[in-house]
Amino acid sequence: MIQTKPKQTWEDRVAALKTRQLPRHIAVIMDGNGRWAKRRGLPRIAGHREGVKSVREMIEAGKDLGIEAMTFYTFSTENWNRPRDEVSALWSLLVTAMNREIEDLKRNNVKVRTIGDLSALPPQPREEMFRAIRETEKNTGIVLTLAINYSGRSEIIYAINTLLASGVTSVTEDDVTNALMTKGLPDPDLLIRTSGEMRISNFLLWQIAYAEIFVTDIHWPDFRKEELAVALDWYQTRERRFGKVSEQLRS
Ligand code: IPE
Ligand code: IPE
Ligand code: MG
Repeated sequence: MIQTKPKQTWEDRVAALKTRQLPRHIAVIMDGNGRWAKRRGLPRIAGHREGVKSVREMIEAGKDLGIEAMTFYTFSTENWNRPRDEVSALWSLLVTAMNREIEDLKRNNVKVRTIGDLSALPPQPREEMFRAIRETEKNTGIVLTLAINYSGRSEIIYAINTLLASGVTSVTEDDVTNALMTKGLPDPDLLIRTSGEMRISNFLLWQIAYAEIFVTDIHWPDFRKEELAVALDWYQTRERRFGKVSEQLRS
C-alpha cells in the first residue's frame, strides 16, 4: 500500500515557521494579474479582482504569523500609462474592495496606511483610502501599507524637499529614513515579487537596501497562504550577513 504523507495543515505550517526568525516587514510587488487572466481567456480586470483575494489571504496569514507590517505595491506612478479603461477599472476595484473589507480590517486590528501621492487619485478612491486610514488609525495590530500612485524615486524627491523646507544644509541616513513616507516602519526584511520579473520597478528604493529578494513564477492571483509559507521557508534558510563574514554571525 502506498503511504501518503499526511498533509500539513496551515496551523502546522504556522507553528513550524514560528520556531525560527520571521521577517518583521514583508513588501510585495504583486505582478502577473494580467497574465493570469490572459491564460484563462478573461479580461485583465478579472485578474486584478482575483488578486484582491490574494491580498486578503496575505493579511490573514500575516496576522496568524505575527508579522508586524506588510506593504503591497498597488499602483505605481508608471501605471498611469496603461489604457484609460484599465486605470479606471483599477480605481473602481479599489473602492469596492476597501468598502467590502473595511469592517474585517477593523475587527482584525489592522492599521491601514498608504504611501504615494493620493492627491492625484479620482475623488472616490481617494476618499475611500482616507476613510480606511482614519477608521483604523488607533489599531495596534499588523500595519497594512498600500503603495498607491507610488514610486521610490518620487518618494525620495518628496523626502529631499521636506528636508530642504525644514532649512537643513546636511542630512544623515536617519533624517532621510524619517522623511520618507514609510516613516516608523522597519525596513522590509523580505521582498516578494510574483510572476517572474527580476526587477524592482521603482519600489521602495531606499528601504530595500538589505531586503532578501524572493521572485516566484507564480502569478499574483495564485499566490496564497501556501505560497507565502514557501517564501518564508526560503527566507529562513538565508544567512543575513549585512556585510560581515559567516563566522562572525555564529560566534
Ligand atoms: C499587477 O499585475 C497589478 C498592477 C500593476 C496594478 P499586472 O497588471 O502588471 O499583470 P501583468 O504583468 O500584465 O501580467
Ligand atoms: C509593478 O508592476 C507595479 C505594481 C505591482 C503596482 P508592473 O507590472 O507595473 O511592473 P513593470 O512595468 O512590468 O516593471
Ligand atoms: Mg505587470
